[in-house]
Amino acid sequence: MTLQTRIPTFRRSPTVLITGGAGFIGSHLCDSLLQRGNRVICLDNLFTGSVDNIRPLLNHPNFRFIEHDVREPIELGGEIDRIYSLACPASPRHYQKDPIGTMKTCVLGTINLLELARLKGARVLQASTSEVYGDPEVHPQPESYLGNVNPIGPRACYDEGKRAAETLMFDYHRTHGTEIKVARIFNTYGPRMLENDGRVVSNFIVQALRGEPITIYGGGTQTRSFCFVDDLVRGLQLLMESPPSVTGPCNLGNPHEVTIEAIARKVLTYTGSASALRFEALPKDDPKRRKPGIDTAVRLLGWRPRVALNDGLQATIAYFALQIAGETPSLVPTIARRRTDRTARNQMKVVDPSL
Ligand SMILES: NC(=O)c1ccc[n+]([C@@H]2O[C@H](COP(=O)([O-])OP(=O)(O)OC[C@H]3O[C@@H](n4cnc5c(N)ncnc54)[C@H](O)[C@@H]3O)[C@@H](O)[C@H]2O)c1
Repeated sequence: MTLQTRIPTFRRSPTVLITGGAGFIGSHLCDSLLQRGNRVICLDNLFTGSVDNIRPLLNHPNFRFIEHDVREPIELGGEIDRIYSLACPASPRHYQKDPIGTMKTCVLGTINLLELARLKGARVLQASTSEVYGDPEVHPQPESYLGNVNPIGPRACYDEGKRAAETLMFDYHRTHGTEIKVARIFNTYGPRMLENDGRVVSNFIVQALRGEPITIYGGGTQTRSFCFVDDLVRGLQLLMESPPSVTGPCNLGNPHEVTIEAIARKVLTYTGSASALRFEALPKDDPKRRKPGIDTAVRLLGWRPRVALNDGLQATIAYFALQIAGETPSLVPTIARRRTDRTARNQMKVVDPSL
């Protein structure tokens, strides 16, 4: 059976709820789903998200923004077909600011969403994370790897919170038959990352553009694999529209592995910056290697990343350059985004027959 014949058809435009929709990934997902003719409800407490990320959508007839905290029960009228659960601070700096709040967002927020999904008969996709693998002893990390998480360390509020959220997803699926999808997202980067959240790519770019030293924690030999946000958003939608039997967990990330120092040097090249590299001590429990095994995504979704690191970095640098100059970069499409949006649109015709 082909993927196309297994896709459900809607009688009307699907209504999609995106929690955390005003954040980095969520706002790109709002853009993409609206472009495909969906009705989009963006729910966010603006903890790390910003209305600026969704400002161009606020007057769209199919878009609605609700300021709400997922730790509180969610009551919404009307039909909801799909729920993307993205609400949670994602960078250590932010999720460690209020660790108990982070845990509550993961646990209470997921229960509240799953209860809403039960009520509405909606399908739910949980944005889980590669952090469920902790500091991995297996490389690359397949979904079958159970992880190496320190349950009492400073990152545990997020890592264990996300693990608990996965548990809840599968318990609702087994107990109530809720249709679930669990995406384990690896490091993602692109326009609309927060300037000050301490994540590698945004940190390096902002430091380079400002001519400040680029801070590398550890020796710079630790690796990460970075996925451009457009690729990730396409993967999330393919997973969401996969057959009900596909629950995940499904890794979504770019298996192209690079050292942190190599990223810093690329950023220096593309920004033309003369910033020096400054090496500092590695934070506690920081994973040394991270690379997704994406066989499941390739096999079940036909998904693999398409945007090369060099292109994605240049698009992200262009965004931050505008932002630092005080312009409104959320309105400015980048070359990389324009190209991948077009490709993604063609691809998504397969998974959203309502268009
Ligand atoms: N960016 C990555 O590399 C990455 C990697 C793995 C997983 N993820 C997951 O993807 C999701 C989105 O990440 P992001 O990078 O866009 O982060 P982000 O911080 O930009 O977005 C998170 C959004 O959730 C909102 N939020 C936080 N707590 C909330 C609450 N209690 N109620 C309502 N809204 C709340 C924030 O205001 C923000 O808009 C997160 O769940 C994150 O854990 C991201």
